[in-house]
Amino acid sequence: MSAPSSVGRPVDWSVEAVDPEDEAAFAAWHAVYARAEEHDRGAAATTWTAPEMRETLRDAGGSRRVSGFVGRLGGEPVAFGLLEVPLRDNLESAQVLVVVLPERRRAGLGSALLARLEDEAAALGRTVLGSEVLWPWRLGPEGGQSDGEQPGAGQPGGIAPGLAFAAARGYALELVEVQRRLRLPVPAGVLDDLAAHAATRHEGYALRAWVGEVPEELVGGWAVLEASLETEAPTGGLTREPQTAEVARVREGEALMRRQGRTPYRAVALDVDGTVVAYTEVVTTAHEPTRAYQWGTLVDRAHRGHRLGVALKVAAARLLGERAPGVESVATWNAAENEWMIAVNEALGFRPVEYLGGVEKRR
Ligand SMILES: CC(C)(COP(=O)(O)OP(=O)(O)OC[C@H]1O[C@@H](n2cnc3c(N)ncnc32)[C@H](O)[C@@H]1OP(=O)(O)O)[C@@H](O)C(=O)NCCC(=O)NCCS
Repeated sequence: MSAPSSVGRPVDWSVEAVDPEDEAAFAAWHAVYARAEEHDRGAAATTWTAPEMRETLRDAGGSRRVSGFVGRLGGEPVAFGLLEVPLRDNLESAQVLVVVLPERRRAGLGSALLARLEDEAAALGRTVLGSEVLWPWRLGPEGGQSDGEQPGAGQPGGIAPGLAFAAARGYALELVEVQRRLRLPVPAGVLDDLAAHAATRHEGYALRAWVGEVPEELVGGWAVLEASLETEAPTGGLTREPQTAEVARVREGEALMRRQGRTPYRAVALDVDGTVVAYTEVVTTAHEPTRAYQWGTLVDRAHRGHRLGVALKVAAARLLGERAPGVESVATWNAAENEWMIAVNEALGFRPVEYLGGVEKRR
C-alpha cells in the first residue's frame, strides 16, 4: 500500500498527461471519473460522457485549454485529474479537479495528483486556483459533520469528502450553489400560466427561440450578454475577472458542442431597437438523450423587472418539449443567494438534489 501524503510521495505512483488520441489510455482515465461520479453522486450525477470529454481535450476552442492527467498506482489508473486554463481573460486563474477511485481514498493520492496539477498551473503563470466540490442535498449547506468518514450517495451522516479535502489542501469555500432537477414534461397549464403572468410585464419586448447556432444578426448582442454572466451571476468570494465579449468565443463554443454531440435550445428577448437584452440556453446531448442541462440565463440590468427571465425559460421549455420530446429531466445550478432565479426555477418545478461548492486558493 502507498504511504500517506504526509510522509511524502506514494510508493509506485506516477502521473502522466492524457493523450486524447490514445484510445485505451483515454478510456481508462475517463472510467476512473465515471465510476467515482456514480459512487459519489448517484442520481444527482451530471457526468461528462467519454466522447464529450475527449472532444474537450482535443480542442476546447481558443478561449480555454483543458488537459487531463492520470494518476497510476503500480501502473493501474486510480486517479483522474483535469486542468483548465482560460486563454482570453482571467489569465492568472486555473481550474483544477481531482477524483480518486472510492477504494483508493485516504492514501494521499488525491493530494499527490493535486500537487502535480498545481505545479502545471504554476508553470503557466496561474496563481488563482479554483475547483468545485459536490455534496448531497441531505448534508446541508455546510456539507455535514467532520467525523472523518466518507459517505456514499444515499448514506446518512458524514462529511462531503471533497469539501474536507479542499479544506485540508488550503482551498476556501467561497460560493455555495445548488443543483436542481426538473422532471419533464412540465404540464402545459403550468407553462401557459407562467407565460401569461410574465406577458403582463414585458410588453414591447420581442421573444425569439431556436435550436442550434445563434443567428448572425443576434450573435454580437449574445456575445456581450453571455460574457457578462461570469461576473453578473453571484460569484461569492471567488476571483472572477470580466470575460471578453467576442463573437469568436460564441462560435468556438458552438463548434465544440457540435463535435461533442450537444445541441443548444436557445431563447432571447429583444428590446424595441432589436438589441439582445436577455438570453437563456438549455443543452441536450446525443450520448444521453433523456438528459438536458440548463446553462446560462441572464437579463441585462437595465431590463430587469419585466419577467423576461420567466418568459425565456418558458420559451426554452416549450421548444425543448416540441423538438426533443425524449428528454426526461433538466439539471440547473444556482447560487444559493440567487433568490430571484431560484423562485423562477421552483415555479417551473425544479427541486434541489445536490450542493456545489466553489473553492479557491491563491498561491
Ligand atoms: C476528494 C478526493 C479527491 C480526496 O482524495 P484522497 O486520495 O482520498 O485524498 P487524500 O488522501 O490526499 O486526503 C488528503 C486530506 O484531505 C482530507 N480528507 C480527504 N477525504 C476526507 C474525508 N472523506 N473526510 C475527512 N477528511 C478528508 C484529510 O485531511 C486528508 O488527510 P488525512 O487522510 O491524512 O486525514 C476524493 O475523495 C474524491 O475523489 N472525491 C470525489 C471528487 C472530489 O470531490 N474532488 C475534489 C475536487 S478537487
